[in-house]
This record gives sequence, structure tokens and C-alpha cells, in this order.
Amino acid sequence: MLTLCLPTGRVLDEAVEVLENLGIPTLRLRERGRSLVIQEGEFRFLLAKPMDVPVYVHYGIADLALAGSDVIWETGASLVELADTGRGVCRIVLAGPKKVAARFLGHESRLMGLRVATKYPRIAEAFFADRGIQVEFVHLNGSIEMAPRLGLSDCIVDIVQTGSTLKANALSVIAEIAPVSLKFVASCKSLQLAWDGIEEIIGKFSSSSRKAGDEDGKAV
Ligand code: PRP
Repeated sequence: MLTLCLPTGRVLDEAVEVLENLGIPTLRLRERGRSLVIQEGEFRFLLAKPMDVPVYVHYGIADLALAGSDVIWETGASLVELADTGRGVCRIVLAGPKKVAARFLGHESRLMGLRVATKYPRIAEAFFADRGIQVEFVHLNGSIEMAPRLGLSDCIVDIVQTGSTLKANALSVIAEIAPVSLKFVASCKSLQLAWDGIEEIIGKFSSSSRKAGDEDGKAV
């Protein structure tokens, strides 16, 4: 039995599709209702908040997981990245209103003391520390885009997918920080203790990527 942790929220449907493409049974997962632990065939699925998925892997509660590269970086969890699924694609960006964006065009001293709202304090800190800019962070858990509008912060560090939430809150991208996608990861402990089962899934992963590549080739 392998335990696989999946992120809830908007990326869950994509994660379930990835599993389905690997031939992993997902019927119970699709009909889960409010269940958070679901057993199906040789698999046990755990449904966790995206930011918590790497934590379950780090502590070896989950053998495997589909986790965003944003939350892997942010949590600093110890895990092994096995493959990039190419799904759940978005970006981590620094964004703000026009007048704040203009300050980023000037000398860095104009940025000292900016207040930055984010649910990614580690990533945001790394971004500003790299540039030697001291700012203040406000750690929020969601709806980050409304912080500048309400005067809680000058700018934000958050993920952007379609860009519609930024637009709806009169914000624009000031700097790209990192691309994000859903990674297939394993716990270090499980790689040793459950290698046979994991190897089988990695094999399916490679052949499903090859198949997708062949289909792309045919389409051209
Ligand atoms: C994420 C992110 C943005 C939004 C971006 O929030 O934090 O708010 O999606 O998506 P868009 O570029 O397609 O508009 P999510 O919907 O996960 O909810 P949250 O605000 O509660 O974190």
C-alpha cells in the first residue's frame, strides 16, 4: 500500500487527472464527498491544503505526493523530486499598483521599508534579501491581492495563473520570481522502504510522458 498526498483546492482536479493518466484508480477520489483519507486498491490518498502537502512527505506520513514547486520551496521540506507533471502551471511574482511599480524603476533606496503582503514569507524574503532591500512582511493566508488596495501593504508576492485576480484589484506584475508547476515527489524514507512500488509508478510516468510527446509530435 502506498500513501499519496494530494493538494486540495483548484489544483486537485489536475492532480487527479495526472493520477488517472498513470493508470492509478481514482473513482473513490472523484466521489470523495468530505473524506480526507481515501483508500482505493493499493493506494491511500490524503487530501491536504497545498502548503501542508510537503509536510506530510517530509515526515514520511505520505510516501508520494503531487506538490507545487511554490510550496516545496516555501516549506523547505526535505523530499525527493521525481518528475515534473507539467500541470498546475503558474508563476510566483511581485505585484503592486502602478505607483509602487514606478518606485522599482528607481534607486533601490526608494524601496526600503516597503510593506509586502504574502503567503510565501520565505520566498519573498529570499527575493528581497538577494537585492539587499529591507522590507516589512505581512503574512496572510489568502486573498492577498486586496492588501494594497486596503492600505495593508504596498505590494504583494503571490502566485498568478490567469492574471484576472491581479487585474480585478488594479495590480500589475513588477517582477517575475519563479515559475511554478506540480511536481511528483517522494519521501526520502519511502524511496528506500517502498522502492518497488515507487519505481513502478515512475515507469508509468516516463511512458505516459513519452506517449504525450509522441501525440504532440503527431499533431505538428
Ligand atoms: C491564488 C493566488 C491568487 C489567485 C491567482 O489564490 O493566491 O489569489 O489564485 O489566480 P489568477 O491569476 O488565475 O487570478 P487561490 O484561488 O488559490 O485562493 P487564495 O486567495 O485563498 O489563496
